[in-house]
Amino acid sequence: MDENETLWTIKNRRAIRDYDTNKDVSDELIYKVIEAGGYAPSAENQQPWRIIVVRDKEIQEFIGQIAVNRTIELFGRATPREEIERRLSYIESKVSLERTIDILISGERFEYIKGRPETNGAPVLLVLAIDQTHVGNSQATLRGTGGVYGWSSPRHAVIAGSMMMQNMALAATALGLGSCVSSVQLDHFDDVGAISGRLGIPFPHWVPILCLTLGYAKHERTLGPPRQTPEEITFLNKWGEEFKGGMK
Ligand SMILES: Cc1cc2nc3c(=O)[nH]c(=O)nc-3n(C[C@H](O)[C@H](O)[C@H](O)COP(=O)(O)O)c2cc1C
Repeated sequence: MDENETLWTIKNRRAIRDYDTNKDVSDELIYKVIEAGGYAPSAENQQPWRIIVVRDKEIQEFIGQIAVNRTIELFGRATPREEIERRLSYIESKVSLERTIDILISGERFEYIKGRPETNGAPVLLVLAIDQTHVGNSQATLRGTGGVYGWSSPRHAVIAGSMMMQNMALAATALGLGSCVSSVQLDHFDDVGAISGRLGIPFPHWVPILCLTLGYAKHERTLGPPRQTPEEITFLNKWGEEFKGGMK
């Protein structure tokens, strides 16, 4: 156990892609996860988010198939094998590395979104949509302040939505649930339109940006991909200047 429960939860949240399909997630737990999400900060406290709880298997299948198709395109076709190997170089066992590459390029890795028991799918899929117009765009008084022109509104909405998503993932961990943030099914403009249409999201005012699967993990997964240390990602006062932090 970490020195602090919150830090423990942050460090032990893992992307879970295999779920125990004998266990459903109660609406009460989903409620708690979403409630925690709503405590995320947002610009002007505008809370520019909506969540759709998807339990319908056909809709999960629809969204999951888009994820699988895009993954095949992304990793199976567009990303050179050497690049995939470089990204996964932290995997020491050759067998595990080959298996991970296989399930990536075949799209199998993202079958879990479909929620099928045969592939250890997640019983619940949350879809997070954000209000791209939430700050500034509709307010004439903001014209010229940076709030109207350019990108502050969509940017703020994406930032706030992402923080909400992380709150939900952490709450899920704290409640003993496994979860996985996913976006591959929402990275292509056509897919955003198709998923919005299927879910009745009033796109493009509201835009789905991320999903979160929820369920009980089939296997305990404590070791995630390695993280860079604070020394590696931090500068003191100026870009490039060493920050030693606790290692002083
Ligand atoms: C913006 C974003 C998009 C992601 N997209 C996907 C995705 O499409 N499918 C997936 O299975 N995981 C996705 N992930 C999860 C990451 O792969 C995972 O968080 C990362 O590899 C680190 O592993 P960990 O969460 O277990 O520490 C996404 C995470 C983020 C933040």
